[in-house]
Amino acid sequence: MADKNLTTEIARRRTFAIISHPDAGKTTITEKLLLYGGAILEAGSVTAKEGRSHTKSDWMSIEQQRGISISSSALTFEFSGRHINLLDTPGHQDFSEDTYRTLTAADSALMVLDAARGVQTQTEKLFAVCRNRGIPILTFVNKMDRPAQDPFELLEQIENILKITVVPLTWPIGDGPDFKGVYDLQTKQVLAFERTAGGKQRAPMQTAGLDDPKLVGLVGADLAAKLRHDVELITAALPEFDAAEFLSGELTPVFFGSAMNNFGIEHFLSNFVELAPPPGPTETNLGEREPEAPFAGFIFKLQANMSKQHRDRTAFMRVMSGHFERGMDVTHTRTGRKLRLSQAHTLFAQDREKVEDAYPGDIVGLVNPGVFQIGDVISVNGKVVLPSFPRFTPETFATIGLRDVGKRKAFMKGLQQLAEEGVVQVFYPTDGARDPYLGAVGPLQFEVFQARLLEEYGVDVEMNVTSYQLVRWLAGDANSVARFARHVEDDQGRPVMLFRSKYDLSYTQEQHPEIEFLPLPKDLTRV
Ligand code: G4P
Repeated sequence: MADKNLTTEIARRRTFAIISHPDAGKTTITEKLLLYGGAILEAGSVTAKEGRSHTKSDWMSIEQQRGISISSSALTFEFSGRHINLLDTPGHQDFSEDTYRTLTAADSALMVLDAARGVQTQTEKLFAVCRNRGIPILTFVNKMDRPAQDPFELLEQIENILKITVVPLTWPIGDGPDFKGVYDLQTKQVLAFERTAGGKQRAPMQTAGLDDPKLVGLVGADLAAKLRHDVELITAALPEFDAAEFLSGELTPVFFGSAMNNFGIEHFLSNFVELAPPPGPTETNLGEREPEAPFAGFIFKLQANMSKQHRDRTAFMRVMSGHFERGMDVTHTRTGRKLRLSQAHTLFAQDREKVEDAYPGDIVGLVNPGVFQIGDVISVNGKVVLPSFPRFTPETFATIGLRDVGKRKAFMKGLQQLAEEGVVQVFYPTDGARDPYLGAVGPLQFEVFQARLLEEYGVDVEMNVTSYQLVRWLAGDANSVARFARHVEDDQGRPVMLFRSKYDLSYTQEQHPEIEFLPLPKDLTRV
């Protein structure tokens, strides 16, 4: 039987990630969540914008130059007796596999939308990853203090584009300069918004029911009448919140607010801790592993050279079951190697705090002695492995050339280590004469690769993005297709061909019926 403390710790864990299009307000919301979680006293200390202090995860110089957060780590805070792990996912226009992999360590996701822009391309892609995993998604419509789309239209858009049932739990009263607050559809109370200078302190709130004579005084006669009308329409036309549908990822509860003005965040957070699930079982080769089982964890992200003081490689592990204690002896299940986990820490940029204990849902950084690969499992009992861990099909390809041929050895080492981290995927020409192609989900990955190769391995490379956009795996003997220049091999030696467009692919299929194209390998996920 699981010990009582373990059961309690599991029940109070909430591990989630924020998904959003750049600029929707993810950084601002993160900051305000930490404010309510008591992790920071005044907002403004974690914003990643230039001229301000950086988020604690902004440790790489390329990130600092660009003022964006490229790699992910976890922020932890307590709220209402719950222990919350917020996985930091990058929100830049281009994104990397890293973002997707981080989502595999989350038990739920918060989708942040800009009230004027609604669902945007990046939201769609990240949403698709959460959808594939079937994790519950909550929605926060941000920037209500700016002119916004009609809330009914916004909900329809979410439903139509993302094919998910939407149920508002709050409802906005006005927008832009007329934004007066939200109506809590569950407690039937108006939470009135008061602008505070810069939104730095917790926003004050006043409440009044729909029939409360104070309502008109709070929001004005027009908005009060509109609100009563909207609520009637919502009650008549929209489904009720259904917890089971939410937990299976088919329904998203929607909240409205303004992160910058610190409005709606605390309300969201109190709902979040009640609605979002604690860590559940993990699918493994030995069946579902319950969080109460003895300790096991999986590696979802690798990072080399996290800081200049500590030139090492870190493996990020999510505890999937049991009680993790620093210094414990575990088995690395892929190799059978015994490891002692004495170098474990939580990572907050360059600051490291030693981790003594961790529970399911928690993220622990392990110093990687070179044994860990993404998807690896460590455990105290049983040869547990994960059935598959997603890699993502690259959609952009670059050629790479070494500027100083004397650096070939360092180049190959950097290439191998950064590929292992998932910074890029490598495709090798079969004739061995040319340099490899790099594949990525977004072109920013190439810049990161180039910068890190220079900074960490002292290797200067030239990179050119090609017009290839598609990759397909081929059956059979690689020699049969060797005459095609764009024929390459993946890192496991499987024959692969690159294409410039869907048309290019179908034309090649027509012209060369002798080539057999395979469905995507199991370890690759399309987004
Ligand atoms: P991101 O991490 O999703 O990219 O978004 P971020 O929080 O950096 O927010 C993007 C911009 O939107 C920032 O403005 C931020 O201040 C603003 N913003 C966030 N939430 C709200 C909101 O509720 N209302 C309004 N009106 N604006 C909001 P910026 O001009 O790019 O930067 P800054 O100079 O304000 O830092």
